[in-house]
Amino acid sequence: MNLKDLYIDFFVRKGHKQIPSAPVVPENDPSVLFNTAGMMPLIPYLMGQKHPYGTRLCDYQKCIRTNDLEEVGDTTHHTFFEMLGNWSLGDYFKKESITWSFEFLTETLHIPLKKLAVTVFAGNDKIPFDEESYMKWCELGIPESRIVKTTEDNFWIAGESGPCGPDTEIFYFRSDEEIPEVFDPEDNRWVEIWNNVFMEFFQDNEGGVSILPHKNVDTGMGVERTTAILEGVNDNYQSSIWKNVIKKVEEISNLSYFGNEKSMRIIADHLRTAVFISADASGIKPSNTDQGYILRRLIRRAIRHAKRLNIDINSNWEEEIAKIILRQYKKYYKELEENESVVLEVLKNEKEKFNRTLEKGLREFEKVIKNNLCLDALTAFHLYDTYGFPIELTQELAVERGLKVDVAGFQEKFREHQELSRTASAGKFKGGLASNSEIEIKYHTATHLLNAALKIVVGPDVHQKGSNITEERMRFDFSCDHKLTEKEKQETEDLVNRWILENLEVTICEMPKNKAISSGAECMFIEKYPDVVTVYSIGEVSKELCGGPHVKNTGELGNFKIKKEEASSAGVRRIKAVLEENN
Ligand code: SER
Repeated sequence: MNLKDLYIDFFVRKGHKQIPSAPVVPENDPSVLFNTAGMMPLIPYLMGQKHPYGTRLCDYQKCIRTNDLEEVGDTTHHTFFEMLGNWSLGDYFKKESITWSFEFLTETLHIPLKKLAVTVFAGNDKIPFDEESYMKWCELGIPESRIVKTTEDNFWIAGESGPCGPDTEIFYFRSDEEIPEVFDPEDNRWVEIWNNVFMEFFQDNEGGVSILPHKNVDTGMGVERTTAILEGVNDNYQSSIWKNVIKKVEEISNLSYFGNEKSMRIIADHLRTAVFISADASGIKPSNTDQGYILRRLIRRAIRHAKRLNIDINSNWEEEIAKIILRQYKKYYKELEENESVVLEVLKNEKEKFNRTLEKGLREFEKVIKNNLCLDALTAFHLYDTYGFPIELTQELAVERGLKVDVAGFQEKFREHQELSRTASAGKFKGGLASNSEIEIKYHTATHLLNAALKIVVGPDVHQKGSNITEERMRFDFSCDHKLTEKEKQETEDLVNRWILENLEVTICEMPKNKAISSGAECMFIEKYPDVVTVYSIGEVSKELCGGPHVKNTGELGNFKIKKEEASSAGVRRIKAVLEENN
């Protein structure tokens, strides 16, 4: 069994339910491009919402981090990675969490005790020293010389605000050298492999800390890093995770990995991430904005490196590599199986598109760098705009020639350009609507009404999990542990229609986020909103954090009709509904 299977198997035996990985693109949360940690899709539950699977959960979650894209090419960086996690939502706490981590590491993975060390939270002016964790580790046999109390890295929060708490981190000695008696977290032979966060607090944007409704545990372990460690390789790309992919790149290029590590790692990493993004439920395609632009940059950078390895770009090299990746992960992620042809088509189309300008762009690059020590912003932008060269590609080319690029100047031009194209799709960053036709605005208001009606008819535990609007219909996903009965459906429909007939006024106001939350406004990811938020209210029946736009009065909506109610994913139901013209 590999690490993922062992992990899930272990925690299921400890009474956890395995939950499926959420999509890499968070649903209905336009403020972040990708899930960057295993706990992100669980934020509402850590905040107190009831999870349909119960209070003990475990999973492997697809994560994407693109903030250090340029670092990819070394032995440890990846843009996509899987994070193993187990959670207690107000169930067990420190003792069990630490005991099970210890048991998994030493008994399931057979890591010798002497290779382990831990850090615990030392305490600050707000939160005391985590004595309980300290004592537990001692009890389990970790010598005190291998337990370090720190405050620096032992408090975990995703971003600026949200659920948070002190953590205890577990380190592994990754070296054949003699293990020093005293553990020093700064000594990079000790690598962090597991992070157990004891989430009992909520930090708001002003830094104020309050207590969460219950005490949670949130743990995270990176699959790539831990696998490499267990297999005793210092280069992640030489672990079993990458073996077949790298072998394929070697075969296609007729070159050895050794001596060509950087390009091969970039190709392997970027194509794997591109495969996962294009297979995602969100249906992202390469474009010049948001996730689509990340996807484009990844594919284009992979192509450039394939070219460096003298791979025939017009052959189906990318397909061969993608197929290895698909085969390897299909068993774990059914979307890879279902969307295989979409993935291959995305890669092929983008390759063909880039191939048309790549040669010309490279020639143009050679021309402009003559007699120049620095590539100015305008030229870099021209390479982007005309030849589709993402900035880091230009930068990479420049670095290879010992040149500098005015990246800041480029970014400014790029932003100006994006502003222009964004005004065309202005609603997207605000309310999740790509274009705001009259009917889509109506559907948007109907979505709020449906959300409110379900809370009354089905119960207060109903929460929005996603929504999608087209000119033809609205789709609404919500947490619910059962198929709606005919009666529930009818009552929901009737309630929405009653509110429509009541001609309720839709009002908008801006207020501090805390105030909005305490006044009971609905929202999906509290910590993702800015300090001052817009709240839309519909009469007295609905109040939601939202960017709009909405109709002025519910009377404009017409007749609301539920067309379909079905399962969307585990614990999540989906309603498709339409608005019909009143005769
Ligand atoms: N949230 C913590 C992390 O990402 C533990 O899951 O490390």
